Amino acid sequence: MTSSRKARVVSGMRPTGRLHLGHLVGALGNWVPLQDQYDCFYFVADWHALSSDFADTSALTSYAYENVADWIAAGLDPEKSTFFIQSLVPEHAELCLLLSMVVPVPWLERVPTYKEQQENLKDKDLSSIGFLAYPLLQTADVAMYDASFVPVGDDQVAHLELAREVVRRFNNFFNDVLVEPQPLLTTFARLPGLDGGKKMSKSLGNTIHLSDTADDVRKKVMRMYTDSKRVRADIPGTVEGNPVFTYHDAFNPNKEEVDDLKTRYRAGRVGDVEVKTKLAQALNAHLDPIRERRSAVLARPDRLKEILFEGSRCARVVAEETMGRVREAVKIRYR
Ligand code: TRP
Repeated sequence: MTSSRKARVVSGMRPTGRLHLGHLVGALGNWVPLQDQYDCFYFVADWHALSSDFADTSALTSYAYENVADWIAAGLDPEKSTFFIQSLVPEHAELCLLLSMVVPVPWLERVPTYKEQQENLKDKDLSSIGFLAYPLLQTADVAMYDASFVPVGDDQVAHLELAREVVRRFNNFFNDVLVEPQPLLTTFARLPGLDGGKKMSKSLGNTIHLSDTADDVRKKVMRMYTDSKRVRADIPGTVEGNPVFTYHDAFNPNKEEVDDLKTRYRAGRVGDVEVKTKLAQALNAHLDPIRERRSAVLARPDRLKEILFEGSRCARVVAEETMGRVREAVKIRYR
């Protein structure tokens, strides 16, 4: 493989639901262009999904396949990058266990997302060791492949910071055996929810899925939150922070149309229906080719599985090599 000379990038996604526009402009929008510059390993973090959803795992594997179909539909290319499934590379668990031996529990308790999630997701039982160790497994995920860079959103910066500290501590004891990863911050702004909330998120039900039909999209856009003070079309409205215009900026390539709508919106000379109809059209034009590729991928489930099994086999070759080195460094190697 010629790609072995390029720096390595590793990133993962939990298969906890269908992918939405937030994933498209956030994670995937960032992952796709990296493929040409780096040796990219992208994976389904199925064990991580268990950390918060262990009570019902019935949809996990189908989300995994469907998510990867969406990756390919969005422009990720199995010819350029390695796609794999975390649990098909069980070495991740071994490395996580070894890391756990040197990491003080308070380091994990101090990760801001730990208490935040416990407070925000009251309907879930987040008292497990697995949930506490979430960032440790994430450290194993990236250190396994000597990743130089890890593309993540700003919500993951604390995890990456911890990963770097864990790697340094492990390296102190064990002969600098692991590579310290750097975050590669997503350049895209976070997409607000349809309800104007801070972000699109499955648990808030304010999303447009990549699997939504054109009609679903139209209906969702028509119900979207706008400027709530503007009760009639002839009242001047606010464009800034208005999710309908944030979406226009993100997805409508016709800048003239967007500028014209903004001008008329501010002047109270356009109705919501026109602004939203044009947004739905722009979104559907953006999503149509993705929908087409998505159904082409899902029409060949055996091919999709082959991509993931073959990718996982390749990932495992690298993982075995790393673990050989690690077992040597820890001096637990019997022969
Ligand atoms: N924690 C990440 C998220 O929720 C998913 C993830 C797991 C990940 N392991 C990773 C991301 C390793 C980057 C690298 O988005």
